[in-house]
Amino acid sequence: MFPNHISNEIKNPKVHAIYFSPARSTKKVVEAIASGISDDVQIHDITQGIQKQVDIKPNEIAVVGVPAYSGRVPALACEYLQQINGNGARAIVTCVYGNNDYQYTLDELTHICGDRGFIPISSGAFVARHSIFQEVAKGRPDKRDLDKARQFGKQSVLHTRVSAGGQQKLKGLHPNRPVGEISLAVKTDSNCNYCGACARLCPVGAIDFNNPKKTSKKDCIACARCIEMCSYNARKFKGLLYHIARKRFEDSNQERKEVEVFIPL
Ligand SMILES: Cc1cc2nc3c(=O)[nH]c(=O)nc-3n(C[C@H](O)[C@H](O)[C@H](O)COP(=O)(O)O)c2cc1C
Ligand code: SF4
Ligand code: SF4
Repeated sequence: MFPNHISNEIKNPKVHAIYFSPARSTKKVVEAIASGISDDVQIHDITQGIQKQVDIKPNEIAVVGVPAYSGRVPALACEYLQQINGNGARAIVTCVYGNNDYQYTLDELTHICGDRGFIPISSGAFVARHSIFQEVAKGRPDKRDLDKARQFGKQSVLHTRVSAGGQQKLKGLHPNRPVGEISLAVKTDSNCNYCGACARLCPVGAIDFNNPKKTSKKDCIACARCIEMCSYNARKFKGLLYHIARKRFEDSNQERKEVEVFIPL
């Protein structure tokens, strides 16, 4: 028999939900995975950076999630994750993508977690509404996805309680190629009431605080956070090229993709 506090640590371990999630889908998935493991969840939303280094304790568990951007971990997320120390704690590695392909994202995030001192114990790729082409995978993650996320969290920990570690099967090789850049114009329309929320929440400060109708195309990473966060529905991707790409993308990504998880036996 274990003393009470140790037995509680095993049954209800401290879990850190760590995510970069501009349009808030990754947040939903990571929080669902964490809630499948424990009631004791600490949230670390790193979308707008981290104030100071975070140290995870070796007996704690982290669920680390990012969206796929051009099949990769977003560059900003890579940068912010350097502020987190795993200290030998177990990590559940998660990516969320817009029903097209996550390519190297999981593999790359697994490497990053390892480099930060975590022991990656499982990984999962989940589908969510595409934040640029918003008709694709609309309504996801849905109840089925979130149920799977909770189950995935629970199973990851059950399988690895005795011996942490082990190699999960990875989908792709970590590529040494530059992160793809997406150049899109986000415009503000006449519904804007100048509340300033978009400027405050933009992860790269691309929106002018004094005039939210001005967005720096050079700085914008097309993450769609301002579109998601504007209560007046005043911001949208615009332009002929965007509309042509959107039609093509919607036509070729209609088929529902399912959650993929990798848990070592
Ligand atoms: C810049 C950018 C690039 C993206 N690239 C991909 C991609 O390569 N494959 C894909 O299926 N979805 C892609 N997506 C869609 C996102 O991965 C998806 O919408 C995700 O749910 C966004 O997470 P968030 O809501 O936490 O921000 C991309 C989205 C953005 C903004
Ligand atoms: S959040 Fe919307 S309403 Fe507020 S300043 Fe930005 S665009 Fe305008
Ligand atoms: S302006 Fe660009 S980078 Fe900033 S929140 Fe909007 S889409 Fe994201």
